[in-house]
Amino acid sequence: MAATAPLTTSDIRRLFLEYQAGSGHAVLERAELVPRNDPTTLFTGSGMQPLLPYLLGADHPSGDRLADSQTCLRSQDMEEVGDNRHTTFFEMLGNWSLGAYFKEEQIPALWHFLTHVAGLDPERIFVSVFDGDPDRDIPRDDDSADIWERLFLAAGVSADRVDLRTEEHGNAVGNQGARIAFYGDKNWWSRGGSPDATPIGDPCGPDTEVFYFFPDVKHDTAYGAFTHQNSDGGQFLEIGNSVFMEYQRKQEGFIKLPRHQVDFGGGLERIAAAAIDSPDVFRTSLLWPLVARLEELAGTSYEAHQTELRIIADHARGAIFLANDGVRPSNKQQGYVMRRLLRRAMRFAHGLGVEKNFLGTLVPVVVSMYGDAYPELAARQQEIETSLSKEERSFRRTLAKGLRELRRFSAEGQLGGQAFFTLSDTYGFPVELSHEEAVSQALDVSPAWRDEFDLLMAQQRERSQKTATLGVK
Ligand code: ALA
Repeated sequence: MAATAPLTTSDIRRLFLEYQAGSGHAVLERAELVPRNDPTTLFTGSGMQPLLPYLLGADHPSGDRLADSQTCLRSQDMEEVGDNRHTTFFEMLGNWSLGAYFKEEQIPALWHFLTHVAGLDPERIFVSVFDGDPDRDIPRDDDSADIWERLFLAAGVSADRVDLRTEEHGNAVGNQGARIAFYGDKNWWSRGGSPDATPIGDPCGPDTEVFYFFPDVKHDTAYGAFTHQNSDGGQFLEIGNSVFMEYQRKQEGFIKLPRHQVDFGGGLERIAAAAIDSPDVFRTSLLWPLVARLEELAGTSYEAHQTELRIIADHARGAIFLANDGVRPSNKQQGYVMRRLLRRAMRFAHGLGVEKNFLGTLVPVVVSMYGDAYPELAARQQEIETSLSKEERSFRRTLAKGLRELRRFSAEGQLGGQAFFTLSDTYGFPVELSHEEAVSQALDVSPAWRDEFDLLMAQQRERSQKTATLGVK
């Protein structure tokens, strides 16, 4: 019998949306990366964000069963990119129940999708469940654990439980092979994280997370003596999260929302990585073509320069989607994040010896990878290329000079806010980039660098405001 080809990332997106449509979900278009009508946040960072009013009780025009694949950007993760799982840009597969169904329907449906549609091995699926918050009168989620147990046992795999409470405790004792691990704050979801960090007014609730286990990866003991679902030691990859949004945080505490709701988010690239049995999301079909192109451009191999190639591929892809959604590099807000992504990508490419302009040549790669799902990229290809190339031409002129200046400043003594300010002002180096470069070269940096830099920036702003008011050029 001919071997069936492994599912691609685009296959998984399409199959997920078809699967959700098959159970009565309305499939929504992705929202753009820059949220409309939400000044509290720069980017769409999760699938639920555009649905916030509906999760707080409004009726959605498409009904009470919704699904989509939402493009997300998490700029706060920029410096984590480089390992095998973090990216700034990613897609979150999502389905929502606005009072239509709850745990009893959602968990088995997710299990069926993962094991029968995406083809994941039930033996390798592990979960975590909320262990309760007695101080706030929020009970332990035994219902979810019971549903998982039933599903695991029916598939012929073990279903032991363990109480781990915190990541630290888990690191110390490990999960002892238990498939269902209970944690506290780790299994509470809000846009801010734990119960204490939940923004006032936001919907939130206990969640149950799904992890894929990679037995061939060696557990990294830098993250604790033993492994468990929430360990960063490399063996477990979180692939999905079902939030049971039953609460809203108010000034006076957590109140019950009027209806039972589910907010499921699954990392498309991570599920795709599990489907090809790789713990490395950069090996999946919506990233690997970029890595391969960069290997060619830099005349190097992924094995030799994994970290750098991952950073450049991720940042270029994120910036291309930002350009597609109307962002342009600038010194403010979303534009500044786009500028940082592009300049960071250029800095790493420069380090690999890429001397010519290359960013524009990555656009057709992204357009062809995403053509089926997001044809608007092809329609805007020229615009996107122009925007990236313009930024590249202007920064490349000063990149090498700026890097030399950084070393010269360092040779003169400890690097502080003044050096970083000059690099930003004269050479267009985002301050984070200069600082990161200094740290990577083990240069001596003053502990007060950030405060000094912020002060100089504030003084500069004041000067330019005065000039503007006086009408002086
Ligand atoms: N909103 C949930 C998350 O982002 C599903 O993990």
